[in-house]
Amino acid sequence: MRVSIASTLALLAGAVSAASSWGFSDGKVEVSSKSSSSSHSGPRTYTFTDKERIKDAVTLGHADKIKISLTAKNGSKAKRPHQAFLLVKEASGLEAPYALSVKESGKGSVEITQRDLPVQLLTSQEPLEASLVLGSFGSSKGSVTPVFDINLEIDPNTPSPAYEAPLRYGKQPEIHHIFRAEPKNPPKIVSIAFALAVLATVPALFIGWSLTGANVAHLQKALSVAPISHITFFGSIISMEGVFFLYYSGWSLFAVLPIMGIVGIVAFLSGTKALGEVQSRRLAGER
Ligand SMILES: *[C@@H]1O[C@H](CO)[C@@H](O)[C@H](O)[C@H]1NC(C)=O
Repeated sequence: MRVSIASTLALLAGAVSAASSWGFSDGKVEVSSKSSSSSHSGPRTYTFTDKERIKDAVTLGHADKIKISLTAKNGSKAKRPHQAFLLVKEASGLEAPYALSVKESGKGSVEITQRDLPVQLLTSQEPLEASLVLGSFGSSKGSVTPVFDINLEIDPNTPSPAYEAPLRYGKQPEIHHIFRAEPKNPPKIVSIAFALAVLATVPALFIGWSLTGANVAHLQKALSVAPISHITFFGSIISMEGVFFLYYSGWSLFAVLPIMGIVGIVAFLSGTKALGEVQSRRLAGER
């Protein structure tokens, strides 16, 4: 029931390119009712061909019996096919096959009552669709012909069968994923606290210098001996602070790293010279 016989057969038939195909003639549906209370008296008869299906849905009451009969044909010759089914399909695609008993002459028929229908079809809210499936060995193409719809009339006096649709895997609704927001800079209060802590080291620095005897009187001499090195070295240290500030104020790490690299190289080259000059003064005993 789950595997679509119709599509499998259509596929198989499609693989064989054939001139003739399977069809039928004398298609007839007879609905007879056993129930005496039914308003329908005598069998209702409908006819169909492989070109024209029955226009109105055929009503199948709980005491009714549907009999489908036809003559199967290979091309224009009446013949018994290897496969002959009536496929009853529900809106979601579930289908139940009913094999026709076919004589060698091609005449075949099948009968269906509500009791033959599986619960999934019986509880269908929409009319069921009945198709004829004919096919056989050989070069003739198989055929799937929708022939009529079935309207179910459930007995109001018997409880309707309980059926819960099973979990089926299928397409789910689209998911709109919202990514977590970019991490924000630390709160202002934390930044201010650390900034104050850093500023507090400045007086400590001057106190330290006064204790160890730092000497700004040499500044002029240092600048006259190696002006470019000292200015560039000092400038590169200030620039590095600037780069840190840029990073803090929102630049990404990837934007900041190359600049840091360049500033670092400048600081290294100028620093080697500038500190070398300081050392030469130290070695000369000037502090
Ligand atoms: C149906 O007819 C075709 C062509 O006339 C023939 O080749 C094939 O054998 C026939 N098939 C059967 C099952 O009789």
